[in-house]
Amino acid sequence: MLNKLKTIAKNLLAITWIRRTYEVVNRGFLESFGSSRVLTHVFFTGNFLAFNREQSAVLRGRRNYYRNKSTARTTHVELRRNVHRLEKGLTMRPRRDVFARDYITETIEFYEAAVAQQCSAPGTIDQPELDWAHDVLSEYFAVSARTDRTVEAARARFESAPYDAEPTGKIPHPKEQLSDLGYDDLEKLVLQRRSVRWYEQRPVERELIDKALLLARQAPTACNRIPYEFRVYDDPELAREIAQIPFGTAGYAENIPAIAVVVGKLESYFSPRDRHAIYVDGSLASMQFILALETLGLSSTVINWPDFEPLEAKMQRRLKLDTSDRVIMLIGFGYAHEEGLVPYSAKKDLDTFRRYND
Ligand SMILES: Cc1cc2nc3c(=O)[nH]c(=O)nc-3n(C[C@H](O)[C@H](O)[C@H](O)COP(=O)(O)O)c2cc1C
Repeated sequence: MLNKLKTIAKNLLAITWIRRTYEVVNRGFLESFGSSRVLTHVFFTGNFLAFNREQSAVLRGRRNYYRNKSTARTTHVELRRNVHRLEKGLTMRPRRDVFARDYITETIEFYEAAVAQQCSAPGTIDQPELDWAHDVLSEYFAVSARTDRTVEAARARFESAPYDAEPTGKIPHPKEQLSDLGYDDLEKLVLQRRSVRWYEQRPVERELIDKALLLARQAPTACNRIPYEFRVYDDPELAREIAQIPFGTAGYAENIPAIAVVVGKLESYFSPRDRHAIYVDGSLASMQFILALETLGLSSTVINWPDFEPLEAKMQRRLKLDTSDRVIMLIGFGYAHEEGLVPYSAKKDLDTFRRYND
């Protein structure tokens, strides 16, 4: 027994020693290579696998963006972006008589492709998206001065495109005041939300999940692209399986009754400059999803998705993700167990994270 204890103590000492040595060496690298951008470049030239998956996802996404443009799809991200640019132009104060000269022709090309898809394969395209494009373009041409050749050529093409639905009024309008919810009400909801890790073992009604997702999609996204998917697993077996993939669920994965994997679609961008937008947009939507769940009596916890190759590969295989799809986070949710505790998780003082005009 004594010998066994001695061996364990020795092993623990060895582990601690290895960990300390690793940290010292690692810090040496970080202090030198992290001190300048040139050295950083040298570091990653030698260590090119570190961000390879992400870089590959960005390039594949851009490749898919261009490939997708000539294929039939439910939603056309390039059309969404340009229609949004137009609707923003329509709201400018003062509004210019002629605007969007530099992108109206390509917008009409995107619109024509969407209308052609609607004609050749009815029901395959997101109709509200096409209606929105039609309404905004109608408004754009209605208010544009008839003085510019590019705009006039685009107008002619727009008018001859065989779109066959009534206008739906999806054009700029004064902001509405729909709610009398006050700060105190929101404060109660926000304070009520805590990361819950213990759930009742009963199904979550799909009707409630869908209601929460409808509020999630109302969150702002860059150029209104909505560049994410919520992959929801509400089958208890599947939820358990997916919940066990990330590191952060150790000890409680088995009792998560439903889980959403928030997946960012890098195929939404033609430029690498927008590669972070999936994380911002996906997170804003996730927060609305989480708060909406709270209003429906459901609790949740966000689960971290580390950029760790073995897990990335496993998730990609399991969810059949494209190389350009990036997992942003997971959200476990369900009915909170009556006896489950939540950590206190003290928040930071306001003065520690707020600066004005500094
Ligand atoms: C991006 C992100 C990743 C998180 N990852 C995990 C995780 O892997 N496992 C976990 O149990 N909780 C995770 N959480 C929950 C946090 O631990 C929790 O939000 C934090 O401690 C504050 O507690 P509260 O949510 O109750 O306010 C995560 C939260 C966020 C926002």
